[in-house]
Amino acid sequence: MKKRYIDDLALFGGSNLFDIPKPTSGLYRPSEERFLSYARSLFTTQQLTNNGPLVRELEKRLAELHGTASCATFCSGFMALLLSIYALALPGCTEVIMPSATYRRMAAIVRWAGMEPCFTDIDPQTLGVNAELFRPLISTKTALLLGVHPIVNMSAAEDLEMLSAESGIPLLFDSVEAAYGTIAGRKIGGFGRAEVFSMHASKFINGFEGGYITTNDLELRDKLKRMEAFGFQKRDVITELGCNAKLNELHAAMSLACLDEIEEQLRHNKIIFKRYKSGLEGLPLHLFKYATNETRTWKNVVVKFEEEWELTRDELLQLLEAENILARPYYTPPLHIAEQGFVTTVLPVTEAITASTCVLPSGTHVSEQDVDIISDTLHFIYKHRQMLKVMLREKGHMYEKKPL
Ligand SMILES: Cc1ncc(COP(=O)(O)O)c(C=O)c1O
Repeated sequence: MKKRYIDDLALFGGSNLFDIPKPTSGLYRPSEERFLSYARSLFTTQQLTNNGPLVRELEKRLAELHGTASCATFCSGFMALLLSIYALALPGCTEVIMPSATYRRMAAIVRWAGMEPCFTDIDPQTLGVNAELFRPLISTKTALLLGVHPIVNMSAAEDLEMLSAESGIPLLFDSVEAAYGTIAGRKIGGFGRAEVFSMHASKFINGFEGGYITTNDLELRDKLKRMEAFGFQKRDVITELGCNAKLNELHAAMSLACLDEIEEQLRHNKIIFKRYKSGLEGLPLHLFKYATNETRTWKNVVVKFEEEWELTRDELLQLLEAENILARPYYTPPLHIAEQGFVTTVLPVTEAITASTCVLPSGTHVSEQDVDIISDTLHFIYKHRQMLKVMLREKGHMYEKKPL
């Protein structure tokens, strides 16, 4: 139902626009039959885990997708990152240089690997990182450069490769948000020593849960495969500090089914993005656009609200959330604020961006009609911003931060 009066907004007593919440997660569902046909093979091979045939097939296909010599899968992106950081860090060094505007548990991953994060600001145009931002933070303590790609755009990967070569400090990429991308035609996957991806249900390749790394360094790949399987090199011979971080066959079946349908997902993502682009026209916001001369997932819709809104980003999200439009704040709070021990760190771009930017609903559960409703709601809110500001502030509706 279209909103006509302010009282029609769900926050002020109107009925909400969507019965079922509209999320920002991809949640791509491959065809049931395709998934089941991979999953059925479990009953023939009788292998459920421990580097089974589906995991091996998936690793081969992911390496092909990224144009790398190899791939190793893991039970999650978290564990893929943790083990890669541990394996690559310079011995005796304790700091990992990384952006603060990123995945909310990234600092925890670094700490599990026995190190401390050293946070850098981001580029205001791309929201990514580059060598200029990393260079001043390099010291004798630096163990690793962690180049995280932002949502939508890319970090300056070639720049960072040069910095790594010149400083001798290993470079790892968190490419969770850059899956299926290219930089000047070069595929994401082969930059730095390795790149890490997630196969969580919300990501481009949905394996329910899961993660993987791509690398051209076969020794590193073999080491990581040993680390994820208890550290065994062969029966009764342990060569690594191992754990259990393997991907199982059922999750590999889901990922393979999604890989088969990349084109279908891309088609949907592009339609949704373009619909937002026209629906949001005329509003004072910056829509972060995908490079059309590169490959991209077109999966996420990120907007930065300009000052003309008069309402804060969090007030806007509060109004949307009441409608079951689950737009999410962009990497908020940033890690240098969320994590203990960084009181003196000031990162002006990160702080300004994370306070004014959000991710709008997209993915399988969002249709073109849904985008029209969401865009119309934003136009309605903008039109009535002054009245809404008074109502929100007088009535004391406070945005309660909820975990994602
Ligand atoms: C940028 C980034 N890195 C790492 C991860 C962790 O991946 P996973 O959820 O597979 O553990 C996420 C998850 O959302 C992420 O967004």
